[in-house]
Amino acid sequence: MVASRFDTWLEDPLLRRLWTAVREAGPIRSVAVDLTDTCNIRCEGCYFFAEGMDQVSAAGAAGVDGFIDRERTRGTNFVTVVGGEPSLALDRLSKLYGAFRLSVATNGVVPIPRHGFEELPIGVSVWGDTVTDRALRGGGRRDLFAAALDNYRNDPRAFWYYTVAPGHATQVESVVERCVDNGNRVLFNFYGDLEARGGDLDYRRGFGDVRDAIDCAIDRHPGAVLMTSRLADVVSSGRLFDERWGHAVCTSITPDHAANADRITNGRPYNPHFRAFHADLETTRRCCTGVERGCDSCFDTWQHFSWVMLNLKKHLRSEEDFTEWLATTYLFYFINRLVDLDDEASLLEEIHRRTRRRKPAAV
Ligand SMILES: C[S@@+](CC[C@H](N)C(=O)[O-])C[C@H]1O[C@@H](n2cnc3c(N)ncnc32)[C@H](O)[C@@H]1O
Repeated sequence: MVASRFDTWLEDPLLRRLWTAVREAGPIRSVAVDLTDTCNIRCEGCYFFAEGMDQVSAAGAAGVDGFIDRERTRGTNFVTVVGGEPSLALDRLSKLYGAFRLSVATNGVVPIPRHGFEELPIGVSVWGDTVTDRALRGGGRRDLFAAALDNYRNDPRAFWYYTVAPGHATQVESVVERCVDNGNRVLFNFYGDLEARGGDLDYRRGFGDVRDAIDCAIDRHPGAVLMTSRLADVVSSGRLFDERWGHAVCTSITPDHAANADRITNGRPYNPHFRAFHADLETTRRCCTGVERGCDSCFDTWQHFSWVMLNLKKHLRSEEDFTEWLATTYLFYFINRLVDLDDEASLLEEIHRRTRRRKPAAV
């Protein structure tokens, strides 16, 4: 029954194209690593420092080589490089780049050179307009957004990983405009107020205004926004069909970590290959962005991508749901340069046309 409906859905040229691209790219067997225990800035409420992840010393050259051997043997083919600041450890980054497909998060202050990292997908962080970003990431003084715009202008490797707080919806339009004018695309992430600063930063007030602003950004820049309207809903509301976001459903957990012993037996999908490694590249933690923290403050888009992607079964009830699953999965592959298609911008526009949930606002 499902099989025949599924075949019919794939007669749709867009779905067929996305499905074929993902199938040809093949399955992702991923892990996440911290590359360094240091950073050149200290963002307000950064989970890395909030949970003491900087206390684990970074691996030396031999440690990186050992990690590469072990993970290649295990079949890892994709590594998300996060914690600390990867641009401060280019020697280690280069080793990993030579061994796996990578995706890297950077604060953008020190450019990752093109030479030697030609095809590296780079997510450049920004947390708001100049005033907000300077306050939350620049220690009140440095305009990191301007520096990163300079460093990644018209750089095809870069996309913005734009973390928005609930009270900062009015900044979305101008921030996206600057990113797009800089020749880059944008993926949204949502601020987890780990230090309970409250006010504009308080996730308990909900991200409704931010979602509306993201929908407007999609309408204005459909060739530049790298998530669907519905994925923005899933991440920021913590709802996927009948599930509520939390440790019981998160799929990006380290399966053999003691903290996940109950989780892996609760019947919900998880990625059996995944591991979240500390900077020593040996010890692991519960999940990418957490050691012990509650998951109610986690609005990490990367992990929610995985939540959707590992729940294909739930998306087979209707063509609309399947389209969402496929668009989200395709976008993950696209962001990470795992698929290579012509007409990228028009394809993104088509994806947004097909997945836009609410009535487009007048632009
Ligand atoms: C810990 S940083 C490490 C990589 C790099 N130093 C950077 O700044 O992008 C990884 C990502 O987590 C995001 N992040 C850190 N703390 C966060 C929080 N409390 N809420 C939402 N995102 C957060 C950052 O913006 C960044 O995109």
